Amino acid sequence: MRILSQASLGDLTTFGLPAQAEHFASCTSEEEVKEALAWHRENQGELHVLGGGSNVLLAGDLSGLVLHMGIGGVNEVGSTDQGVLVRVGAGVGWHNFVMDALDRGWYGLENLSLIPGSTGAGPMQNIGAYGVELEERFHALEAVEVATGETHHFTHSDCAFGYRESVFKRVLRGQYVITAVTFELLKTPELRLKYGAIKSALAAAGVTDPTPKAVSDAVIAIRRSKLPDPAVLGNAGSFFKNPVVDEARHIALAKKFPEMPQYPTAGGIKLAAGWLIDQAGWKGHDRGTHGVHDRQALVLVNKGGATGAELLKLAEDVQQDVLKRFGVHLEREVNVLPNAGL
Ligand code: EPU
Repeated sequence: MRILSQASLGDLTTFGLPAQAEHFASCTSEEEVKEALAWHRENQGELHVLGGGSNVLLAGDLSGLVLHMGIGGVNEVGSTDQGVLVRVGAGVGWHNFVMDALDRGWYGLENLSLIPGSTGAGPMQNIGAYGVELEERFHALEAVEVATGETHHFTHSDCAFGYRESVFKRVLRGQYVITAVTFELLKTPELRLKYGAIKSALAAAGVTDPTPKAVSDAVIAIRRSKLPDPAVLGNAGSFFKNPVVDEARHIALAKKFPEMPQYPTAGGIKLAAGWLIDQAGWKGHDRGTHGVHDRQALVLVNKGGATGAELLKLAEDVQQDVLKRFGVHLEREVNVLPNAGL
């Protein structure tokens, strides 16, 4: 493993924003991760871990070490009453893993097809789409502790999963590098079709008796119709989280906007950030090099040549306007590096 200096990160994030890493190490095994972390402990400074780069906005150059996660491998490591335990290297592309699992007859992740990013980044924010979250099929993970270089095992409850949340985003932020994730996948399909968009996509494809592959194809079709392909238009998926508001705010808004999408959850009423941003007139907003996607207002796009600072300014303008109009604070879902608060 080599430590490079002044390495370009331009191709390593789906926003495609220009930035440099002061030092850079690409790691393809747990041993290499440990070597890179030993180097980091010796040289001090900041540490940043990049997986698929699909949930990151680079707002400037990164000092210290950027560790690029490249650990591969998808292996059956055991079985349970319901199915199989599958251990996946943190650097395996999430969508490739989902496709591989479908091919091998391992089910339960089909609704999470075409989510960009790496498998190791998945548990960090408990990725979710179309009625399924990663935590439902999660079994355990392995991570190397930055301070000691030791491998630790995390069970489901250790991870404290929530909506786009886990212990790795909060209390343990920056303290571990995830190297492998084990999933419990099903041998007998249990399809999750409650999302209206899935039903419509299956109907449009003429499918009456869906298989997991048909559900995956439907999800891929829906995502392609709404979300821009990062290979064509730089983006990081949903830029903000859907906000959860208290009863008083919900009643006031629902009275004024009876058509507003709303979903009851344990913590309060969840609103659709995309709807709020759209309603405020930002959908398709164009600033030349960057803007708000014209088919999904929750997605900010780099049309070519934007800087991270410009995209961050656009995000702040959207946040301020939504706060002014609806009294709702939108929290970023995307991580901003170097760190810039919420
Ligand atoms: N809406 C609008 N205008 C828009 C966008 C959305 O009115 O520009 C409305 C929609 O009509 C719908 C509601 O807002 O009534 C929700 O929209 P959608 O179903 O597209 O889902 P979302 O809440 O915007 C979330 C996830 C996505 C995930 C989809 C499908 C978050 C922050 N985002 O989006 O995840 O794919 O549901 O399950 O939870 C991601 O995290 O990067 C991501 C793409």
